Amino acid sequence: MKPRILVVDDEEKAARGIKRLLEISGGYDVDIACHGKEALEKMGEEAFNIVITDYKMPEMNGLELLEAIKKQQPEVEVIVITAYDTEVGPAVDAMKLGAFDYITKPIQTSELKIQIKKALERQKLQKERVLFQEELDKKYGLDNIIGNSPAMQKVYEKIRLVAPTNATVLITGESGTGKELVAEAIHRLSSRKDKPLVKVHCAALPMTLLESELFGHVKGAFTGAVNTKAGRFEMADKSSLFLDEISEIEPFIQVKLLRVLQDQFIERVGSTRGFQVDVRIICATNRKLEELVKKNKFREDLYYRLKVVEIELPPLREREGDIQLLIDHFVKHFSRIHNKEVEGIAPNALKVLYQYPWPGNIRQLRNTIESMVVLCRSRTIQKKDLPEEIQKSKRKNNVRMPLGISLQEVEKEYILATLRKNDFNKAQTAKELGIGRKTLYRKIEEYDIHSFTAE
Ligand SMILES: Nc1ncnc2c1ncn2[C@@H]1O[C@H](COP(=O)(O)OP(=O)(O)OP(=O)(O)O)[C@@H](O)[C@H]1O
Ligand SMILES: [Mg+2]
Repeated sequence: MKPRILVVDDEEKAARGIKRLLEISGGYDVDIACHGKEALEKMGEEAFNIVITDYKMPEMNGLELLEAIKKQQPEVEVIVITAYDTEVGPAVDAMKLGAFDYITKPIQTSELKIQIKKALERQKLQKERVLFQEELDKKYGLDNIIGNSPAMQKVYEKIRLVAPTNATVLITGESGTGKELVAEAIHRLSSRKDKPLVKVHCAALPMTLLESELFGHVKGAFTGAVNTKAGRFEMADKSSLFLDEISEIEPFIQVKLLRVLQDQFIERVGSTRGFQVDVRIICATNRKLEELVKKNKFREDLYYRLKVVEIELPPLREREGDIQLLIDHFVKHFSRIHNKEVEGIAPNALKVLYQYPWPGNIRQLRNTIESMVVLCRSRTIQKKDLPEEIQKSKRKNNVRMPLGISLQEVEKEYILATLRKNDFNKAQTAKELGIGRKTLYRKIEEYDIHSFTAE
């Protein structure tokens, strides 16, 4: 489609002149309007890429039109035509109001064409940037976190509540439960989202290097500090800083961190002059910080500062309901990425995946599905395609049950767990439970665990 241009001039002859010129030589689709109101009406009906407007017009002048356009359709680029070289006032005002540029009469065709080309380029870039932003939102927003279980619903609710604030957030949970994903989501849903989330992996660096990584250093601060360097805190100014594996930082850095949290004030290593930063801190750990506090390995005051809001991610084995959703998601995702046509997983394979305790949580599940999709030769993943250690593992040879539930519930859970352990083989289950098969069937009925045992 040809780019569309609207020329606005109260002198119809002049407008027609420009139209002809652009249509003949430029490959543009041009329409004209004789005053501001008509222009806005036309813009309400059809889309234009660029508006070229004369400055001097009765009633609504070019600047007023520009202002109205920027309010309604900020993506439209406006070029204003002013009368004389000497009359700079309107030109400056036009730029301030968001005009792409101005040109002076008499119009030089070549100049006008260059301006149009540049304006279209800028518009395209802008559009790409918006799309990119939307993609980022999709990539890192809540949409990207899979799971419907009650435990995850609670997590989402907390994320939504805390994201728009400046509160420090501590994300806890076993390895692979999605802590980094949650950190990204919090940042994406905050007003700081237009700047990138700055990340520091606190366990990845020796402590002295971590200090300068976080706070920066001045030239000559230590051997090897040949240049002054900005730290991550500075880079995260007006944005968020994700401190991963926060449990691993040593006491002397804990003190410095505490100070930043208290008054948002940092000093580069080797410098005595500090300065203010505006950083929102999100941190994560897979270790129990309160235990480290008890052992005097982590400062108590820092601990309380960090956990203003704590988001605890449940391990995968406690959110069985999410396993199916995650598997579906990853099968689809990796089939597409690896150009495979895998559609799903055979029921017997699924059962094994359900029973596996997933010590590496979602990361492990994700990696497992990826390799199965890559290696799979048919449309469905079969039990034999599963990694050996998963096929062999027997899950839940003990059942954990919270106190405070009824004996009936205990019995139900226990029967269900034994059924699962035995691959839903009822004869074997009855034998292990020391009851007759009939009794087992009756209890299955009674506790309404049909849906689990059907197949
Ligand atoms: N709910 C989820 N939905 C979809 N993918 C998830 C989910 N949770 C985690 N993942 C994926 O699992 C992998 C591990 O997640 P992430 O890196 O956030 O875990 P982590 O808790 O930071 O682990 P670690 O403590 O080992 O650093 C990533 O590839 C992530 O995209
Ligand atoms: Mg992580």
